[in-house]
Amino acid sequence: MIYGFRLSLENPELSFSELVSILKSYSLEWSPKWFFKKLYILEVDAKEDLIVEIVKRSATAKMAFRIYRVDKDSPMNLISSYRKELLSYIDKELSYRLKVYNMGSKYIVDSTREFESMFADKLFSEELGNLKISLSSPDVIISLILYNEYCILGKLLIDDSRKLFIKRRPGSRPFFSPYSLQPKIARTMINLAEIKDGIIIDPFCGVGGILIESCLNERECIGIDIKGKLVMGARENLKWIDDNLTYSHLIIGDACKLPLRKAFLVVTDPPYGRITSTFGRNVISLYNCFLKNLSHIIDSEGRIVIMSSQKMDITQIGLKYGFKSFAKYIIPVHRSLTRLLYVMRYIE
Ligand SMILES: C[S@@+](CC[C@H](N)C(=O)[O-])C[C@H]1O[C@@H](n2cnc3c(N)ncnc32)[C@H](O)[C@@H]1O
Repeated sequence: MIYGFRLSLENPELSFSELVSILKSYSLEWSPKWFFKKLYILEVDAKEDLIVEIVKRSATAKMAFRIYRVDKDSPMNLISSYRKELLSYIDKELSYRLKVYNMGSKYIVDSTREFESMFADKLFSEELGNLKISLSSPDVIISLILYNEYCILGKLLIDDSRKLFIKRRPGSRPFFSPYSLQPKIARTMINLAEIKDGIIIDPFCGVGGILIESCLNERECIGIDIKGKLVMGARENLKWIDDNLTYSHLIIGDACKLPLRKAFLVVTDPPYGRITSTFGRNVISLYNCFLKNLSHIIDSEGRIVIMSSQKMDITQIGLKYGFKSFAKYIIPVHRSLTRLLYVMRYIE
């Protein structure tokens, strides 16, 4: 089926990679159809419910639509063919409304609201057989997406543009650390691993930025940090989202002597040598001893999603211990801080 995804435009390459990684984690076949600036249209071998689940999981996908057709014509010219198209999708038991998403149309210059009600009157005519209309709580929102000279007819599946990441920002959590990851980045890192289930290990967990997102996805996680005070902080933050600590385990320990027998998926943000403490080791030797230690316990094909400073390319360090980078992203954190994010696979 054809679906349209509205993604965050903050870092389009990263948003698209996140979406594709989630599709891969569900082993879904997909192919690109149209790439508009604000809407990516893909053919995905998935039911509508699964697309909704995928958008909920993602940090950067805001909306998803089932797409019925894409035309390069003015909306007014398309009305009668739209009615015919909709006949095959209409369910008389359900109530409907039309919503116009004007993403920069060549045709609509006046108020989108006025256009919407005029277009709905014409579209939902008797030819569709007295549809139940509900403006306040429709069962189905028929969507007309207007972009440049394109008109895209579809159905809204999910509008998750008010995702509540803001409520989980480091400054809003009970235990604050200025070095903690922003929830959107933490969630994106988890998704980039292309693995849907299984335990997530964060050996440099700090106050739990990655662990919180893992728990909200109902995924078991193990957090390790060398600093007991931060592990207690992580505990407080994790209790804040789930008092029973259903999915999380915490250990005070050294990432260079991991207190684990096995690992498959590691998502982590080690100290990057700016301010966060490395406890006497220089950053390069810390990455070396951590990756060396991890290589003794990680399964073949195991994944690691890891941040580093922009000044340090860790591709070579990874290769020394059998971790091959298969993706690398530039993450602007704030004006004076840019970081690199790697996705690696353990190959031997
Ligand atoms: C950039 S911070 C991680 C922040 C974390 N992602 C969060 O959201 O709070 C790096 C963390 O690594 C910890 N650390 C430094 N050396 C370590 C080591 N050898 N083993 C485990 N943790 C270490 C520091 O205490 C610090 O909390």
